[in-house]
Amino acid sequence: MNNRELIEKLKTEGILEREEFKCLLGEMTSEDKELLYSCAREIREKHYGKDVYLRGLIEFTNYCRNDCFYCGIRKSNLAADRYRLTKEEILDCTDKGYELGFRTFVLQGGEDMFYSDEDVCDLVSSIKMQHPDCAVTLSIGERSRESYQKYYDAGADRYLLRHETADPVHYARLHPSELSVENRKKCLYDLKEIGYQVGAGIMIGSPYQTDDNVVDDLIFMKELEPHMIGLGPFIPHKDTPFKDEKAGTLEDTLRLLAIVRIMFPHVLLPATTALGTIDPRGREKGILAGANVVMPNLSPKSVRGKYLLYDGKICTGDEAAECRSCMERRMESIGYKVVVSRGDYR
Ligand code: 5AD
Ligand code: FES
Repeated sequence: MNNRELIEKLKTEGILEREEFKCLLGEMTSEDKELLYSCAREIREKHYGKDVYLRGLIEFTNYCRNDCFYCGIRKSNLAADRYRLTKEEILDCTDKGYELGFRTFVLQGGEDMFYSDEDVCDLVSSIKMQHPDCAVTLSIGERSRESYQKYYDAGADRYLLRHETADPVHYARLHPSELSVENRKKCLYDLKEIGYQVGAGIMIGSPYQTDDNVVDDLIFMKELEPHMIGLGPFIPHKDTPFKDEKAGTLEDTLRLLAIVRIMFPHVLLPATTALGTIDPRGREKGILAGANVVMPNLSPKSVRGKYLLYDGKICTGDEAAECRSCMERRMESIGYKVVVSRGDYR
């Protein structure tokens, strides 16, 4: 089958054989690439029009008990300047964000056990109390099913936990031995069973990643059926074991965004900050490849420069309001529109 036929098959069947997927991930003419993007765009616009959903990202702690080889806030990075936000500071971010039109708040942090289950529940319920029309998303890593249940009962709506790679061998090359892909997957299935809208995902071009790994990721996600899929390029961080590794490319990230949009027509798919970091118009290009979400930073300016998972991160010197209006202009420049909405899965 040629690429045109493969794209057609992916569209009608939502899945391909391994070798077929690998064709779509391999060498491709610029004509075929444009066909892939326009097919993804068409599907995206059929379900979501030209709307772009906003998620206000609050990076509330950069302490982490884990030591993932790729991540700038891994516990072994003694150069990281650690911080934690207080409840008051966090609620200040959500209040400002609400004024700016955000209707989803993402609490993201390292795996920081300083925040007990009760603390997390208190944060979630306080935000929901102040802004009942907003969704709260947690992105705080692996915890027990009981903890996930408590946060859900406190009002959390969604949970982001990228699986990073579905292949145990690749997983072990990215993480210390205490972490396992089996547990990661179990967390994702638990979260889904509890009732969360769940986000999985990977870094594009992470060290040692092969096309077969990416196909395994697509197959895993087809089984999981997540509501959200986070895809961004891997970018090295200077104080990690992967400091000399190559970053993922714009091209590979856009290609995967488009494939994912075609496979999962309804999925909430962000054009990530990492994509904006490797290309000045990366997020716009991501939207044009099928993404429908952007996640501007709502963290206080004083800590933004400290939540550095990778080098060169954009938006570290801007206020929330600046990011918000910048994003609006960026989306308008490509004919899309930032909307004031929770942006739930349809
Ligand atoms: N480059 C790109 N993305 C990274 N993440 C962590 N470190 C990096 C890096 N160096 C991603 C991981 C994690 C998410 C919060 O950020 O995929 O799940
Ligand atoms: Fe943050 Fe442009 S989105 S400054």
